[in-house]
Formats: sequence, C-alpha cells, structure tokens
Amino acid sequence: MLHYLTAGESHGACLTAIIEGLPAGIPIDQADINRHLARRQAGYGRGGRMKIENDKVIISAGIRGGYTLGSPITLSIMNKDWENWRHIMSSAPDAQIEDKKVTHPRPGHADLAGGIKYNQRDLRSILERSSARETAARVAVGAVCMQFLAAFDVFITSHVVQIGGIRIKNTISDIKEIAKLAEESPVRCVDNDATKKMMQQIDLAKKQGDSLGGVFEVRAGNIPIGLGSHVHWERKLDARLSYGLMSIQAIKGVEVGLGFECAERFGSRVHDEIYYDFDNQKFYHKTNHAGGIEGGMSNGEDIILRAVMKPIPTLLTPLDSVDINTKKTYPAAKERSDTCAVPAAAVVGEAVVAYELSCAMIDKFGGDSLSEMMRNYKNYLAQVEKY
Ligand SMILES: Cc1cc2nc3c(=O)[nH]c(=O)nc-3n(C[C@H](O)[C@H](O)[C@H](O)COP(=O)(O)O)c2cc1C
Repeated sequence: MLHYLTAGESHGACLTAIIEGLPAGIPIDQADINRHLARRQAGYGRGGRMKIENDKVIISAGIRGGYTLGSPITLSIMNKDWENWRHIMSSAPDAQIEDKKVTHPRPGHADLAGGIKYNQRDLRSILERSSARETAARVAVGAVCMQFLAAFDVFITSHVVQIGGIRIKNTISDIKEIAKLAEESPVRCVDNDATKKMMQQIDLAKKQGDSLGGVFEVRAGNIPIGLGSHVHWERKLDARLSYGLMSIQAIKGVEVGLGFECAERFGSRVHDEIYYDFDNQKFYHKTNHAGGIEGGMSNGEDIILRAVMKPIPTLLTPLDSVDINTKKTYPAAKERSDTCAVPAAAVVGEAVVAYELSCAMIDKFGGDSLSEMMRNYKNYLAQVEKY
C-alpha cells in the first residue's frame, strides 16, 4: 500500500514528507521535483511569502544513484523565512511565543475551531500547520509519483477554468496542448482573453484588500482501463480522487467529467456512446462526459476532474471576529497572504491526483520493483487487447 505523511509548520525550519510503498527501481530526477515546486510557487496573485522562498527538495532517504530503493523516501524543503521566525517558532522552551501571538481568529480559517479543539490560546499554534505552505511537501510527493507514473506513460496536467466571475468559454480536449498553454499563462488559463480578465479581477481584489477563489481542472491521460473498482466503496477511483482533491486547503467541491452539469441534461446527452476502433483494436467512447471514470473504474478515456477553491480567508480589509480572551469584537487577524492562489492550487491538484493514481496503479499491478510491476502491467494490457 502506498502512503505518505507530511510534517512541518509554515514558518518552521522545514517541511518534510515521507512516502512509503513505492517500488524499487523508479528513476528519480531531483531537478524535476524542483520544477514542480517552482510551478506551485508561481501564479499571478500570490503574496510576499513566495518572493522569500525558493523551494528546493532535499532527498535524505529512499533514493540511491537516482533510483528508488523500495524503502521510505524522505523529502524536505527548507523554509527560508525560518530565519525571521526562529525565535518565535523555536521548539526550545525559551521561544518568544508572545511575539506574533494570534488571538483574533480569521473567518474561513482553522483558527477558532482548531484553537478550541487543541486547547491552544495562541492561535498561531493552529494556523502554522493549517497553512497551505504544507502543500509544498505534497507537490514534492506528487512530483515523485508523476515520475513513477511516467514509466507507464501516464501524463497529468491542470489548468484554471474560472477565477471570480471570469470563466473560460472554450475548452480544449488535447491534454498536451492544455499543458503547454496553461504553462504560458500567469494564471494557468488556456484562454488569452480570460487570462487578462482574471488578472484584472485579481488586481481589483488586491486593491480592495479582498481575495478571490475559482475553479481548476486536472486531467490525466493514458490511463489504463480498470483502475479502481466497482465492488467496494473505498476502491472507487472517483471517490479516491475526490477525497484527494477535497483534502487540499480551501477546496470546497469536486466534479468528475460533466459534474453538476449532468443535473440539467437528459441522459442521452450525458452518457458516452461506446464504439470499437478496429484499426487499433480497442473500445472507445464517442464523448467523455464521464471524465474517464464509470462505475468507480477508469474507462480508458482521459480523467477529467474539477475543483472549486474558495477565496483566500486572510483579508487585508479584515472581517469581524472576536478576541478569544476578552470576547469583544475585533477585526480578524492579518497575516501576509495571497490574494488568489487558484493557479497554485491547480499544481497541488496535479500532485494529489498523481498520488491517488499511483495508489490505484500499485493496487492493480503492485510489485516490489518497477520491472515486476511493468511485467504485471504489460500482461494485463495483453489481456485487455484480447478482450
Ligand atoms: C496554494 C494555496 C495557497 C493558499 N494561500 C493562502 C494564504 O496566503 N492565506 C490564507 O489565508 N489562506 C490561503 N490558502 C487557503 C487556506 O490554507 C485554507 O482556506 C485554510 O487552511 C482553511 O481550510 P479550508 O478552507 O479547507 O476550510 C491557500 C490554499 C492553497 C491551496
């Protein structure tokens, strides 16, 4: 079973991830992990923190000579900002925790519920961990998973389809084209006109001390038919992928394929007709409204998922809150913050999808080494071809 754990506070010394359960023999390119970390840091609308950090991964276990060993992989990302926070975030008893103490919980954040639940009177002890800085560790994990999936030619990308009230009109179906265009846009949007309007919306939000959310789409191509299963709830691929996406900070909803649009259409305009391609000897669907998943299993088409991100909760023009000590009304706490992080969240979305697909691949074809897995995978493809 594949599993990972992350540790680390936003202004702590570093973020760490341990990945357990990947087979031995996967070629790992450290520079490519760093490339994904840089993609997560990018995006129009990010705050000052991203100018301080320059995320680079340190690999301290599980990889030797450029290949996974099958043992736990440990990835760390140092926080440059730690230098400015050392005295506040130190683990030593003399840490100056009174500096930067937070007592006015931010609406939309973990501050109040976390403070009460963990019985902490300095809400910094909650927000340091609930912060989406943690997603840097997840992107590192996802980058390793993507390199594993690349051995099976699986390709994952993302693009932003909406920021605030601005939504792209035309969709592109070619996954590589989406990847190329998204990478060129400051907001990961494939539509130039929408890119400009989205950036204007972000400028407006920033000027008003406000924030914005939006919708991103993650696509995965060359997925073998039959990942996941219909037989049990926890093996359903759509459920697993949705769980992964919903676990990202600020994600409030997930759609698979047509998603909520299914509700307004007749069935004949929702379900994808099935044909057989005699030249390439394979089944295919005329359309892909299902987003590549039927009955909890991949159906061989591209996987298409969308996630909605709520606007960033930390506002420069803060909403009302209550001081947890005096119980009097005060403006909510202000932290250095992003105005809009939908493009970054899309990169995190790719990472969690890569992890969930890696889990599903290991469930189906699992072996101790990549070569063993590859044999299982190829045998299965031969079986599919004969079907
Ligand atoms: C990439 C990314 C960046 C984020 N940046 C910020 C930020 O700068 N300030 C902030 O208040 N929230 C930010 N968030 C959102 C919060 O982390 C999130 O809303 C909070 O942890 C509460 O969790 P919930 O929204 O899932 O309930 C970001 C989220 C993501 C995915």
